[in-house]
Amino acid sequence: MTAAPEFVAPELAVTGLTVRFAGLTALDDVDFTVTPGSMHALIGPNGAGKSTCFNVLSGVYRATSGSVRLGGTELTGLPPHRIAALGVARTFQNIALSPRLSTADNLMLGRHRLTRAGFVACGLRLPAARREERRHRARVAEIAEFVGVAEHLGHPVGLLPYGVQKRVELARALCLEPRVLLLDEPVAGMNAPERRAMAAVLRQVRASLGISILLVEHDMDMVARLADEVTVLDFGRRVATGTPASVQRDPRVVRAYLGTGKSAASTEEAAEQATEEEHA
Ligand SMILES: Nc1ncnc2c1ncn2[C@@H]1O[C@H](COP(=O)(O)OP(=O)(O)OP(=O)(O)O)[C@@H](O)[C@H]1O
Ligand SMILES: [Mg+2]
Repeated sequence: MTAAPEFVAPELAVTGLTVRFAGLTALDDVDFTVTPGSMHALIGPNGAGKSTCFNVLSGVYRATSGSVRLGGTELTGLPPHRIAALGVARTFQNIALSPRLSTADNLMLGRHRLTRAGFVACGLRLPAARREERRHRARVAEIAEFVGVAEHLGHPVGLLPYGVQKRVELARALCLEPRVLLLDEPVAGMNAPERRAMAAVLRQVRASLGISILLVEHDMDMVARLADEVTVLDFGRRVATGTPASVQRDPRVVRAYLGTGKSAASTEEAAEQATEEEHA
């Protein structure tokens, strides 16, 4: 699969980002930059502020202060659909697909912002709208093939195994033809073979599509294998940024994870435990 023709991944720069909820500072003056075309991991113990950060980047939460810039564009203050239209796509920590719809229809919903013909034209089955729909269905099939869910295009998503649903969610995000992809725990709850398959797909996404990826992940092995750079959060503060190897050795990072009784290297266990609790 190839990238969209006009494709250039812009830099994503987060500066001084602060988010306060009543009585709680979830993010406190956080800075990091996702280099164009790189995979940047955001890690930290439970409650560190990772999902909050994603919610600000995608426009779901308002920042209390600070800035998020994509290329030259300020994202804070924009509603989610405007941010999506600028090429920022995300997946969620908990699967957010329409379970009764087929994989193909879920992916078509992912292309909604790219469809020119409105619902009226589609409803009237005008030739231009029909042509456009065919073009989108072809791209959906291509993306499904790319992430390895093509055989499930006709199946209701709710009936698919968990690991496949997570890949459908990735496919839906790719259907937006994003320039930046935000992935919140893409392998949470997966078994080892499913994790390896997902890691291979993510590597492909970066290598052949050139999309920048910001990844929240508890599985440190996966982070070490995939990420170019890692930012570590603890209690809403950035405690380190660097290569996976350097942050794993960083005493501030070790201390952050010590509070949880886990080391950064054994967070896969923590993630598995968390998933068990979630599924319980
Ligand atoms: N909408 C909200 N209202 C109030 N507090 C919130 C809200 N969203 C998140 N928080 C709080 O902000 C802090 C950071 O939560 P967040 O979900 O960002 O953590 P996380 O790093 O994603 O954790 P996990 O690894 O468990 O997913 C937590 O203390 C959480 O309870
Ligand atoms: Mg989270």
